[in-house]
Amino acid sequence: MNGNEVVRITEVVREGKGVTTLRFELDRTVRPGQFFMVWVPGVDEVPMSASYNGKVKGITVKDIGEATGALCSLNVGDLIGVRGPYGKGFAQPHGVYLVVGGGTGIAAVMPAIEMAKDRSIVDVAFGARSGSEIIFEERARRSSDNVMISTDDGSHGYHGTVVAMVDEMLAKRSYSQIIACGPERMLYYLLQVCKKHGVECQMSLERFMKCGSGLCGSCVIDGRRVCADGPIFLGREIDEMDEFGRSKRDETGRIIKL
Ligand SMILES: Cc1cc2nc3c(=O)[nH]c(=O)nc-3n(C[C@H](O)[C@H](O)[C@H](O)COP(=O)(O)OP(=O)(O)OC[C@H]3O[C@@H](n4cnc5c(N)ncnc54)[C@H](O)[C@@H]3O)c2cc1C
Ligand code: FES
Repeated sequence: MNGNEVVRITEVVREGKGVTTLRFELDRTVRPGQFFMVWVPGVDEVPMSASYNGKVKGITVKDIGEATGALCSLNVGDLIGVRGPYGKGFAQPHGVYLVVGGGTGIAAVMPAIEMAKDRSIVDVAFGARSGSEIIFEERARRSSDNVMISTDDGSHGYHGTVVAMVDEMLAKRSYSQIIACGPERMLYYLLQVCKKHGVECQMSLERFMKCGSGLCGSCVIDGRRVCADGPIFLGREIDEMDEFGRSKRDETGRIIKL
């Protein structure tokens, strides 16, 4: 049963620069990497990855527009509608794996870090433009012995892109798989680095969504529905997508360059 349920917000956490986490109770099993369709009364319904998937669920929202702005302005006690979870989750890799998060994409990969049975089998690479945009660093350190941070402006951790940092990490340690979420340009270059080092990856992709459940076709990328066939795809599947890293459709179906 994953129909619409109205839930009351029990906790609001301002994570930093325009990013807010909303926690709520929802008695549904949610796998790492799955997402909800979140309805803001009177505004819109938007896809949001589960940033917490235990008994008390959570979403972590970056304010970029109408619906996300409305979500970020909610307070404890306010109501939202939640459908889902939808989509395939991240599969648990065998052996030691690396989790890569860029910007708000860190929220979607957090449960994939916490699914590790042992903190020595999961390494973490988080990147953002600046230190104030790095979220969940301490939370990641509770589940992993090796958390590496990069910032484009050098204000925290490695000075450079998270992809450049991962390239160096892959030269030092071998991983069975990489799990990643972030801006599509970042994922595009990360895929090239994975191919260079011969490491398979699972990546979470984003496309404009209406139904979230495989019916309307608005989220299609190269014939695959991101909501139902994804949002997690394997690197070798993504490598065959002509639109990946190049173009996407807006809410009217018009193709726009990335
Ligand atoms: C599977 C999935 C999981 C997601 N998880 C999260 C999450 O955990 N946290 C989070 O903050 N966001 C997440 N998103 C993105 C989020 O759904 C969009 O940012 C949101 O729908 C924008 O709605 P809005 O009404 O605020 O923006 P609008 O007012 O509709 O748009 C504002 C501006 O942002 C642009 N825009 C709209 N959607 C996107 C997008 N997907 N990517 C980039 N630009 C966009 C528009 O073109 C416009 O210029 C996820 C998306 C998908 C598909
Ligand atoms: S959002 Fe409708 S098919 Fe994916």
